[in-house]
Amino acid sequence: MAVVKVPNESRTITRPAEIRAFLAQHGIQFEPWGVERLGETTKTLANEEILKAYRPEIERLKSQNGYVTADIINVTPATPNLDTMLAKFNKEHRHADDEVRFTVLGRGVFSIHDEAAKLVFQVEVGPGDLLNVPAQTAHWFDLCPERAIQCIRLFKDPAGWSPLYTGRAIATEYDPVCFAPVQPTVRVTL
Ligand SMILES: [Fe+2]
Repeated sequence: MAVVKVPNESRTITRPAEIRAFLAQHGIQFEPWGVERLGETTKTLANEEILKAYRPEIERLKSQNGYVTADIINVTPATPNLDTMLAKFNKEHRHADDEVRFTVLGRGVFSIHDEAAKLVFQVEVGPGDLLNVPAQTAHWFDLCPERAIQCIRLFKDPAGWSPLYTGRAIATEYDPVCFAPVQPTVRVTL
């Protein structure tokens, strides 16, 4: 379940409807798809089964926004070169493509910089949350302490997901917000 924090306003938003409205004001799409349909099998499902379970939503976003592919990314503490990978994305950057993520397991924090509004807000995403950070939006990403996440990703062009750095050090001014205590280890297959 997502949580939004606006550090400079000491504001925290926890209700899904309010999160959706706040993020929409800033051009960010948020939809709580939930993981109930996966039941107790969440931790043992193959990637293809997860994609199949969310096919209606995936197809809707494809037709709405022009995405052509969907895949699943699994990150665990055992992922090779995890620190190097995380270091690519915890500095302020943009992408040429939308960054569309539906979290199946684990959690992380998207820090989003609305440059027009001169505002940074942080979105902790967890199982069941769909977040779409539009192309060219300045943002950065941190994993929570469990260092594990499993997400469905949607792309117009996989090449569009490379980080384009802004060169600003703004990310160092904000702590990743992970509200809940560290969760039990989640199983994520590689
Ligand atoms: Fe990114």
